[in-house]
Amino acid sequence: MLSKREFLKAVVGLTTLVGTHSSLAKEAAQFPMKRTAIVYYSHSGNTRTVASRISALTAAPVFEIVPQTPYPNAYRPTTNQVREEMQKGYLPPIHAPSIDLNNFDVLIIGTPTWWHHIARPVASWLSQTDLSGKVIMPFNTHGGGGLMQTRDDFVQMCPKSTVTQSLTVYGNGDSDLDEQILRWLKEANP
Ligand SMILES: Cc1cc2nc3c(=O)[nH]c(=O)nc-3n(C[C@H](O)[C@H](O)[C@H](O)COP(=O)(O)O)c2cc1C
Repeated sequence: MLSKREFLKAVVGLTTLVGTHSSLAKEAAQFPMKRTAIVYYSHSGNTRTVASRISALTAAPVFEIVPQTPYPNAYRPTTNQVREEMQKGYLPPIHAPSIDLNNFDVLIIGTPTWWHHIARPVASWLSQTDLSGKVIMPFNTHGGGGLMQTRDDFVQMCPKSTVTQSLTVYGNGDSDLDEQILRWLKEANP
């Protein structure tokens, strides 16, 4: 049996939770982002998690970039392989997402940080895709390095696009990931 004090505490907690969620839902409803799609690559799942939260909040469809030859699961062999690919400027063949770019003006593009930069499969897709005139809203997930060169890579590889500020997420995000996404959408949304 709860004491009166415990009961009151529980009621206050619940009200705060419901309040937070309904105001989040209200905010999210401002972003049924028209003609916006999400394109991402994820090696170990973090970027996929963030992409699906953005989709849940914006109703934007999600498209995945998949390397034709998967990278190893283990961290060390992947970092070694990627370092070599970067040194050689190698862009791995990918299964490009089946997105009709005519239907979208804004592309939210997500990448893990790989050696300070965007992941190679994302670089492959950008190098073979004409994003002229599109708005790119980049996001990266990382292991502690923050933004690093990831936004600069988009600017450099897509000179005819408008690149907004980035959303930068550590790992697959904290408990305030939704708030972080909504703040970013508000600030960066063209
Ligand atoms: C090849 C490779 C290189 C990485 N380089 C960096 C880095 O330079 N800075 C950093 O903060 N994290 C780095 N990480 C960690 C990833 O960016 C981080 O775990 C990310 O959230 C993984 O996203 P994913 O689960 O969608 O693949 C690296 C990971 C890999 C596999």
